[in-house]
Amino acid sequence: MEINKEKKSRIKRITKKTVAPQDMAHELPSEETTFEETGFNGTFLALLPLKNVVILPKSIIPIIVGRKRSIKAVEFALKNDKGIFITSQNDSQIEFPEKNDLFQFGTRSTILQVMRMPNGALKILAEGICRAKMTHFSEESGFMSGICHDIPTTDNSPGTELEATWRQLKELYTTYIEFNEKTPNDISLAARNPKEIDYITDMIAVHITNLSFEDRQIILETTDLKERMLALCTILSSEIEILQTEQRIRGRMQSQIDKNQREYYLNEQIKAIHKELGREDQSEELLQLQAKAKKLGLSKEVMIKVEKEIKRLEQMPPLSSEAVVSRHYIDWILALPWQKTRTDTISLAHAEKILNSNHAGLSKAKERIVEFLAAKKFSKNLERSPIICLVGPPGVGKTSLAQSIADSLGRDFMRISLGGVKDEAEIRGHRRTYIGSLPGKIIQAMKKTNYLNPVILLDEIDKISRDSHSDPASALLEVLDPEQNKTFVDHFLEVEYDLSKVMFIATANMIEGIPYPLYDRMEIINLSGYTNEEKTTIATQFLIPKCLKEHGLTTRQCQISSEALQLIINEYTRESGVRQLERVIAKLMRKTIQDILHETIKSIKINPDQVRKWLGNATFKKTSLTESQDITGLATGLAWTELGGDVLEVETSIIAGKGNLTLTGQLGEVMQESAQAALSYIRARAATLGLKPSFHTAKDIHIHFPEGATPKDGPSAGITICTALISALTKEPTRTKLAMTGEITLRGRVLSVGGLREKLLAAKQLGFKRVIVPRDNFDDIQEILKETDLSDLEIIYVKTMDEVLEHAFDKMPRAQPTKTTKPTKKKTVKEKK
Ligand SMILES: Nc1ncnc2c1ncn2[C@@H]1O[C@H](COP(=O)(O)OP(=O)(O)OP(=O)(O)O)[C@@H](O)[C@H]1O
Ligand SMILES: [Mg+2]
Repeated sequence: MEINKEKKSRIKRITKKTVAPQDMAHELPSEETTFEETGFNGTFLALLPLKNVVILPKSIIPIIVGRKRSIKAVEFALKNDKGIFITSQNDSQIEFPEKNDLFQFGTRSTILQVMRMPNGALKILAEGICRAKMTHFSEESGFMSGICHDIPTTDNSPGTELEATWRQLKELYTTYIEFNEKTPNDISLAARNPKEIDYITDMIAVHITNLSFEDRQIILETTDLKERMLALCTILSSEIEILQTEQRIRGRMQSQIDKNQREYYLNEQIKAIHKELGREDQSEELLQLQAKAKKLGLSKEVMIKVEKEIKRLEQMPPLSSEAVVSRHYIDWILALPWQKTRTDTISLAHAEKILNSNHAGLSKAKERIVEFLAAKKFSKNLERSPIICLVGPPGVGKTSLAQSIADSLGRDFMRISLGGVKDEAEIRGHRRTYIGSLPGKIIQAMKKTNYLNPVILLDEIDKISRDSHSDPASALLEVLDPEQNKTFVDHFLEVEYDLSKVMFIATANMIEGIPYPLYDRMEIINLSGYTNEEKTTIATQFLIPKCLKEHGLTTRQCQISSEALQLIINEYTRESGVRQLERVIAKLMRKTIQDILHETIKSIKINPDQVRKWLGNATFKKTSLTESQDITGLATGLAWTELGGDVLEVETSIIAGKGNLTLTGQLGEVMQESAQAALSYIRARAATLGLKPSFHTAKDIHIHFPEGATPKDGPSAGITICTALISALTKEPTRTKLAMTGEITLRGRVLSVGGLREKLLAAKQLGFKRVIVPRDNFDDIQEILKETDLSDLEIIYVKTMDEVLEHAFDKMPRAQPTKTTKPTKKKTVKEKK
């Protein structure tokens, strides 16, 4: 901008000076002025007018001479020493200039060469000799001519000023040469006097390549040496500035071009390398991935993440470890369902039908499930409903019932086993920092389904454990909590995933094992085990047909008689569920097939003898010690285990000693305390029981619970321990086929206990006829009786230990002083031996 302004102002100056002839009139000698008057010598010379060109002294320029008058002028000059006055038109448009159309300042020149061109024009080479003006202008001879006066250089300034200006000019010119490569740098700038300075200044003017027409005319007309140098300095500074700017721009452009070229080159190289490595298909594949991602209906956040990952993948060599990790990640995202859901087909009748067709019995559980489905159907949006948790011993059909729920809803069914999970990362995934990291079990399950709303079974939720580092239960809490699971973030995926449409069902063997925060969010449905009758129904209706089908047998080829089935249930299995039963039935089928293949039989109806033959001795023969009447010191309790109800026999023995109480059989602390409480009760009742007050100090008491490998604990054995002790002390045997459960207090009260359903079922299955239970459990048992047929079991409710003794012995136990002391003495003697 600055430059342009300056240039414009210079042009203005020039036009003022040159264009107005009247201005020049008083400056220049008039045409009438004589040679003597001006004081200059004059020579008659032809005049050659130029358009847009100024010939400076010391310059040699080629000129095409085409106008007739000019040709004549040149021809005249050639005849007269080749001298010619060359000046410029102030308007290049004029074809036939007159005196006023010409600058009066021109150059006396000499023609160095002439060439005639085919079109009649002349090409001449003219050299400027000296600044000059023309007077006595005429056109008489057919060309312009006049008297030409040389104009010498004036020099009025002091020497130092001239020298300073000269140095300035030299410096500027040197800089100018540096910037302008086109300028010949053959001028020697070493000048010793003003004459030489004058000469070199004109040379410099000639060498400035971009000197405009107007500037040239100024330089030509400036006769004063210092002024001319100053004018040149101005021109040079402005030129240098322009050149510097040009150079900067060029530099910038060059670096841009260089960058573009570099990128282009590198890209080409990459392409070539890819081709060389046989990776041309990679980009095609990535495009496919991109298209797939678009189809999945990913959320904006996920889409951005995937696209970023695909871009990264593009840059990587396909077999590098980063590429493998990246590819693995994209594959996971693309394999998950993000939008598609299955429409629930909730028809209650249909659901009931499916539940009944897969499971016999379980009426209470089924009722609760149907109730749950009804609520879901009614509200259409039961995402916030509690999570069903099926609790019960193994093999009662928890897993298969969950599958039936999924079937009745028409949803996909996925099972996640939580047994032994102790690391949060198994639920929430591993961070994507190393090869082989995977999402957690939840996302893994989601990958297997195509829909966002499957039924996911969290199997064995009571078996998750925790260590000091992580707690999987808290991760599960996020999964199950409807407030949080809409935006579940797996560590591997790193993006939010919506689990709110998933229906979660959990299973557990025991409620106690379920972490409390999880338990709090669940609706517990108990499946407590089957009676023998129920097992028979399940076996005939489900297990036997299923096994026949699996083994490719027909009902004609293999039948199991009901006696045989009873035998299996009673003596070859002991369980709450039916898994063992199913296994035994399968074994019988395999034996059948074996015999059919050996052609010993064609079909068979399996009876009890056949069962014994094929399965060998019964595993669980009913040889309960309670059946023999004459053994004292024995009582049978009922216990609850994870595997269902069981009997717990208590043996006691009284031996001479110092009053030590020994308990063996892997007992927990609670059990030991129960024994202490029982003993305290007996001491308080010693008189009633016919015992000496010091009975406990003279004798050692040993209480043993057989099956020592199984750990036992809990307060419910209290009354059993007490009964066994009293039997041993009084030598009164307990009644046969009697089992009991109940906690004892020091004052002999009997407190309520848990797990009664399983305990009663076990008592019934093991052939007990009577059970003693706490009176406080009356209501619970009434509930149980509604569901389970326990009609052949006499249930005795007791409030105190005295009542227990009433029912546990045929007659009230009382030690016989005569009978008891003698054998004891004998025994003591024996012991001493
Ligand atoms: N009421 C029933 N009617 C028909 N079949 C049953 C019934 N209960 C259980 N079964 C069968 O018993 C087998 C075991 O059931 P399932 O695997 O569901 O038990 P589970 O309760 O999940 O046991 P675990 O706690 O050991 O996982 C299955 O083949 C199932 O079909
Ligand atoms: Mg299961």
